[in-house]
Amino acid sequence: MCGIVGYVGPRPSQGILLAGLARLEYRGYDSAGVAVIDETGSLGMRKKAGKLSALRDSLADAALPDGNTGIGHTRWATHGGPTDGNAHPHLADDDRLALIHNGIIENFAPLRDELAAAGVAFRSETDTEVAAALLEREYRSNGGDLQLAFRSVVNRLEGAFTLLAMHEDHPGLVVGARRNSPLVIGLGEGENFLGSDVAAFVEHTRKALAIGQDQIVSITPDAVTVTDFFGTPVQAEPFDVSWDAAAAEKGGWSSFMAKEVAEQPEAVANTIRGRIQGDQVVIPELDGLDDLFTGINRVIITACGTASYAALVGKYAIEQWARVPVDVELAHEFRYRDPVIGADTLVVSISQSGETMDTLMAVKYARERGARTLSVCNTQGATIPRESDAVVYTHAGPEVAVASTKAFSAQITALLLLGLHMGRVRGSVADASVDVAELAALPEKIAKVLETENDHVSQLAGWMADTRSVLFLGRHVGYPIALEGALKLKEISYIHAEGFAAGELKHGPIALIEPGQPVFVLVPSPRHSALVHSKVVSNIQEIRARGARVIVVAEEGDAAVLPFADEVIHIPLAGPMFEPLLAVVPLQIFAMALATAKGLDVDQPRNLAKSVTVE
Ligand code: F6R
Repeated sequence: MCGIVGYVGPRPSQGILLAGLARLEYRGYDSAGVAVIDETGSLGMRKKAGKLSALRDSLADAALPDGNTGIGHTRWATHGGPTDGNAHPHLADDDRLALIHNGIIENFAPLRDELAAAGVAFRSETDTEVAAALLEREYRSNGGDLQLAFRSVVNRLEGAFTLLAMHEDHPGLVVGARRNSPLVIGLGEGENFLGSDVAAFVEHTRKALAIGQDQIVSITPDAVTVTDFFGTPVQAEPFDVSWDAAAAEKGGWSSFMAKEVAEQPEAVANTIRGRIQGDQVVIPELDGLDDLFTGINRVIITACGTASYAALVGKYAIEQWARVPVDVELAHEFRYRDPVIGADTLVVSISQSGETMDTLMAVKYARERGARTLSVCNTQGATIPRESDAVVYTHAGPEVAVASTKAFSAQITALLLLGLHMGRVRGSVADASVDVAELAALPEKIAKVLETENDHVSQLAGWMADTRSVLFLGRHVGYPIALEGALKLKEISYIHAEGFAAGELKHGPIALIEPGQPVFVLVPSPRHSALVHSKVVSNIQEIRARGARVIVVAEEGDAAVLPFADEVIHIPLAGPMFEPLLAVVPLQIFAMALATAKGLDVDQPRNLAKSVTVE
């Protein structure tokens, strides 16, 4: 939520800030703004409600003087609606100081009262303006030391925040801080950058520094200093960004989502690469950490949204291969009860962004309770892996579309790898050769689904553009895919959709079936379990008898479903744990094509933001 970028260097900053914001726009797109200290040393600011294009239009209509120091923000509203006035930056000190913020300042109300009592007149409804006003007060009272004033401010704030600030008196200096919210440094030649993530500056530099929790950073063109909230210097952790700017470009595709759906074979191949040795799965990052898997008697996988559906597939795989009980917990529910966890529990978190606040808090909570923690994450330098004992990175590359697709496939792949790795370490998988062969074959099979079903499924979606509700049914590992199919449809096409475990239908939801109701049914292979397959075929007959329009996703050659299906989407033959990676692809294409048929923006659906850094 909210994208933040900062620049100091020899170049005019506006273009750099706007390009950075364009790459960060997936984080929030209800308003955007920039502030720049111009050549004459004055601070100018422009902000606009709406997408970044509204800010660009405004700057094209009336230019803002450019300069070498600047900050920019793209917002996902929390306090105060998406208006020009509530957009960031917020100004103080006679408009000579500018500040931007991501997160929520939980104690903003008493601070606002305190400042209002001292005569501050606020111009917005945001919590952020309180931080700007506080910074002005501290700055004035300490005689103009921006870094010292900034330190005093962050120590008074509670909640989650990334803040960047600059002052007209200090051209060439941007200060930043983070608590439970992301901020990374980009190191250039004679210029430096700050960003919510590396996308903000990857076109200029791939050298980055990760900033830890409760740390403050100051950047000038030639220097970067990082301290804790009390001014003690700390060493920031360097890393090289593993992808280049082109990876985060649309590159001729109609949308980022279309590009990312198509990139799934590569994302899965990259996640597997280097993790197969002979006919075993060996994840090198987990070398020397066998104790994480042998010293436990329980696994909890925690995540939100799409990542939690990947977690459900992971539950089946880890239980099957590592023979240890696995529970899946929504991260935002996990720490608000009193879960029974301790040193014998491994808490696995899954997060594409590595910044989801609900998931981060669950990881911290698990650590405080003595559990071991491992994260599955797609973003280098992100907070969740830094807070975990171990990390298995998915290598899906940057995911820009708000609706997660390739990251989901990479998460499932990483969990399959983890299950086989754990099984080997725990001695419960003696021979992984068949599963290793299945893993290696996945990219090609996903490519085949894309090739053979894209037009068919898109056509189907075109016919269904007026549909008001779609149901999705699955059993076993098909159940999480039913949930994911429904979520994809809801979030980008705004059509009501529900995913159910197929066996659950008769316990209530079957009442929803009326003539013409479209229902996708994910049919497991009869080769894996004739029993489960026959149960799903029975479920199809039950809904068909009540007039449902049945769209079946089944493996090639499954003749048993043909008499009962209005439409059949074929997927290649795969092992039981591997089918989800094939079955999800047509559902992603369906959601995307339906949203497109309705004329919607599939990359930036309403009300959403990609990285949810508030609880
Ligand atoms: C849906 C979607 C979200 C995320 C969820 C967790 O398409 O993208 O449901 O999966 O917000 O995000 P991460 O994986 O970044 O923790």
